[in-house]
Amino acid sequence: MTTRTTNQKLLAWVQEMVDLCKPDRVHWCDGSAEENQKLCDMMVAGGTFTKLDERKRPGCYLARSHASDVARVEDRTFICSAKREDAGPTNHWADPAEMKQKLRGVFAGCMQGRTMYVIPFAMGPLDSPLCRVGIEVSDSAYVVVNMRIMTRMGQKVLDKLGADGSFVSCLHSVGAPLKPGQQDVPWPCEPDPAKKYIVHFPEEEAIWSYGSGYGGNALLGKKCMALRIASVAARKEGWLAEHMLILCLTSPQGRKHYVAAAFPSACGKTNLAMMKPSLPGWTVRCVGDDIAWIRLGEDGRLWAMNPETGFFGVAPGTSNQSNPHALASVERNSIFTNVVLTPDGDVWWEDMGVPPPEKGIDWQGQEWTPGCGRKGAHPNARFTAPAEQCPVIDPEWENPAGVPLSAMLFGGRRASTVPLVAEAYDWAHGVFMGASAGSETTAAALHQAGVLRRDPFAMLPFCGYHMGDYLAHWLSFGQRTTADKLPKIFFTNWFRKDAQGRWLWPGFGENSRVLKWVCERVEGTGKAVASPIGLLPAEGALDLSGLDMPAADLAELLRVDTASWKKEAADAEAYFTAYGDRLPPAMRQQLDGLAARLEKAQG
Ligand code: GTP
Ligand code: SPV
Ligand code: MN
Repeated sequence: MTTRTTNQKLLAWVQEMVDLCKPDRVHWCDGSAEENQKLCDMMVAGGTFTKLDERKRPGCYLARSHASDVARVEDRTFICSAKREDAGPTNHWADPAEMKQKLRGVFAGCMQGRTMYVIPFAMGPLDSPLCRVGIEVSDSAYVVVNMRIMTRMGQKVLDKLGADGSFVSCLHSVGAPLKPGQQDVPWPCEPDPAKKYIVHFPEEEAIWSYGSGYGGNALLGKKCMALRIASVAARKEGWLAEHMLILCLTSPQGRKHYVAAAFPSACGKTNLAMMKPSLPGWTVRCVGDDIAWIRLGEDGRLWAMNPETGFFGVAPGTSNQSNPHALASVERNSIFTNVVLTPDGDVWWEDMGVPPPEKGIDWQGQEWTPGCGRKGAHPNARFTAPAEQCPVIDPEWENPAGVPLSAMLFGGRRASTVPLVAEAYDWAHGVFMGASAGSETTAAALHQAGVLRRDPFAMLPFCGYHMGDYLAHWLSFGQRTTADKLPKIFFTNWFRKDAQGRWLWPGFGENSRVLKWVCERVEGTGKAVASPIGLLPAEGALDLSGLDMPAADLAELLRVDTASWKKEAADAEAYFTAYGDRLPPAMRQQLDGLAARLEKAQG
């Protein structure tokens, strides 16, 4: 076992984990290209990885997960704060001491027959004031190579940690020990959902994840650390850890605005973050596609930083039409999980915009032909791609200070009720918009898709503390700086449908039309009209030039139906009752204000 750290706390913790999990070997990851290649070769030999054709997808691999292990497991995700009320009504809570004791039993000997990889990683540029170090120990080589794309990983992080730096300790096991001589499988995991555990100890800054090798369950820097653990630290320290993309919008006149947007999982962050605007002369550059760490700058503005270095993006639906820049990002050095393998050693998925292969191997490893009745790719199939490969990555994306925000968008997937875009009247109203957001569930988590649920700030599965306290924390920024410095807040919905179930809005690059209006509102030139729920684009204010949009469709897209909104408000109000006395009074006032405006609109 070669170690390149003198950090006694780290050495002691790793030893403790070794004693608990009993791996056959320990490997400290240095993050080098050689190490990465060795692990990829090893996974090819073991059947976890299929190497894609070097001429078609250089440096790329395909993995197929176990059929039970395809998405985040929200039911098995726990926040173990010392006090139950600090986890709040939106989280599963367990007593930290009891959970720790149970998990010690679960993890005992769980890495037998396997290698424990010690993965030092940093979230944020190493020289950023917001940068945080985590150490993940995992028995999955798949996790190592994904973490190398998604985070700053390896020896440089141990160097930064130094002799006495502190770190978030992240224990991960796929939960499939091997008996002596037992043959391994391509995707080891614990198939029984009830035996998976994604557990967070916010006070101790520790994560224990057992049984899954997939995505946010296993790549612990992402949702577990950069959102659930970081959100708790952020509240204590006065900043924000958010489920947001960050983009830079430049007008034809060269005016730049940084915009952050919070949409729930599989609701369009990656697509918006790197979109190709349909409006001539406008450009979008990508700073980040999933997570933003936001701090109040000395200038009183909010500055956002992307703590990640890669995209773990939804594959199905990604095409040259919808997201050409994502397709360009995955041309090389990328990992594909649960997509179709084509006979010529490439990948395919539904709505990729190219004809499917005559036959292929589906995400479950079965022979697959178009029209056979099964999907070739799993709906939550993903690519892992280095951010630096994105052709529209923003030059400032690794700026340790982050980028100053002009606007923030909240959004959801709503077939009805919610208009294409609305602007908040002020900061508190914007916080209310985020707080009361609802969205239809997606395949990003193991649950029934298409069910409407409240998903405040797109953080329902990711906030590590009481959601009422979270709202109060957001509101506090209204006092800590002046209104003119704060980003303007908007709500968007790309997913409204007509009675026949047809999308009313073309979406993707056409969303630039909404971004243009946002930009004009920020600059004070865009026209808006008041409605009970917020400011809507005035007639003619949305640039629809070159778009064949029937007037009736536009009217429906922007329609605020009083009766539906009364139901919406009642639903939000009922939801808020669970927050008890931790619901900030300002939210009560917002509910009353909305009710009064709706009443008045009804006449
Ligand atoms: P996570 O990675 O789970 O956080 O998802 P995300 O928020 O990054 O969502 P993503 O951009 O990957 O989009 C998810 C799905 O929504 C894909 O199937 C997209 O094709 C679809 N989608 C994204 N943007 C739009 C849009 O503007 N209109 C429509 N109709 N669909 C969209
Ligand atoms: C999400 O579900 O919001 C994701 C995918 O970004 S995962 O990394 O699996 O959480
Ligand atoms: Mn996400």
